Amino acid sequence: MTENLYLSGNFAPVDGERTDFQLSVTGSIPRELNGRLLRIGPNPVAPNPATYHWFSGNGMVHGVGLRDGRAEWYRRRWVRDDDVVAAKGWPPVPGPRREMQLGGGIANTHVIGHAGRVYAIVEAGNLPVELDDELETVGRSDFGGTLPGGFSAHPKRDPVSGELWAAVYTPFADMIQMVVVGTDGRVRRTVDVPVPGRPMVHDCAISERYFVLLDLPVVFDPAVLEAGLSLPYRWTPAYGARVGLLPREGDASQVVWCDVDPCYVFHPMNAYDLPDGRVVLDVVRHPKMFATDMQGPNEGAPTLVRWTVDPKQRKVSEQTLDDRGQEFPRHDERLVGRPYRYGYTAGFSEGVAFGGLIQQDLRDGKSRVHHEGRTRHFLEPVFVPSSPDAAEDDGYVLAYVYDAERNGSDVVIVHAQDFESEPVATIHLPERVPYGFHGSWLPDAR
Ligand SMILES: [Fe+2]
Repeated sequence: MTENLYLSGNFAPVDGERTDFQLSVTGSIPRELNGRLLRIGPNPVAPNPATYHWFSGNGMVHGVGLRDGRAEWYRRRWVRDDDVVAAKGWPPVPGPRREMQLGGGIANTHVIGHAGRVYAIVEAGNLPVELDDELETVGRSDFGGTLPGGFSAHPKRDPVSGELWAAVYTPFADMIQMVVVGTDGRVRRTVDVPVPGRPMVHDCAISERYFVLLDLPVVFDPAVLEAGLSLPYRWTPAYGARVGLLPREGDASQVVWCDVDPCYVFHPMNAYDLPDGRVVLDVVRHPKMFATDMQGPNEGAPTLVRWTVDPKQRKVSEQTLDDRGQEFPRHDERLVGRPYRYGYTAGFSEGVAFGGLIQQDLRDGKSRVHHEGRTRHFLEPVFVPSSPDAAEDDGYVLAYVYDAERNGSDVVIVHAQDFESEPVATIHLPERVPYGFHGSWLPDAR
């Protein structure tokens, strides 16, 4: 049998949970960084090499705690689901359950804080899983009985209202559901938007006026499921490709759909309104996905493009911002849905190969690269402002990095205004952190 890419090298799972205190540090951790840098990814307990896909592994959350210039701890814990507790002989996970939950309730894609709680989250129908301060699983959550179905791995927090806006889908319904979660941690509003099939809807965007939907041609295919593969989605260009603008407090009949050329977008970077009524939507665009390589994402390099969406003409114009391979776009989250200047991505080339970090200056059309050599593989960058009212680039970019030479991992802290220089600090972790997905900086309560 051919080796499964996602069970080899640094995709392979690590063995067991661990806790370590007083990590060694090169450089100096900024004293204003008091909080936790959390990161989640798949760490399968008992994968079948014939069918395993990276997106379907049981979740494991990794965290580093920073306080007063010290790296106090590193922890890693499984996000418990039915398969994990069965494999480990642990008690069942409490909380509500969805009839069609996938993979025993896996939550492996993002970890966020909201309304004073921490959640591991995922798309396609499963519930969020609440974690405690030490990353132990508390239980599955339906936001106090207010979440009608599953949730998303990519809710967008409006920086003014503090509400979360998410695009929810499942393989079982021809619709995308907009879900708005209030600052009280309860769902305030949902809108079911019908679509002509069952697309994979990984992410969304917001502007001040609109909730932005992506209806793209990676579509549920029962034949793939019947073949036993764990990710039943396939490139289906005949489905069409379009962006939808839903007025934030509008209903499904008000969505304005605008066609784009077939492609796939896992992640927008950000979106915002222009004074003339158009909407800027910056995305990482894959030329296709799950077309020939069912183990993708490996179908040509993903590039950063700007879509300018004109709801009056129902047209989208595309401008390439950077044609180098990159993924995991982030930015200063005080500017979600607002005009912004700086974005950050991880270098990501064909063959699912990570590289350095890229800082995009979208105003001046320039970019800077933070690179530490070919063996240092950076994962998703997270921007943390140096104070609540600091300028947009006055802060730090934090990322987990895998060092292939020593088969170990670090957390690297780079100053955004000195992006190409040596990191201000490198925190050495006791063991490698497998390649994974997304994470958050959760500041300590002030
Ligand atoms: Fe994602």
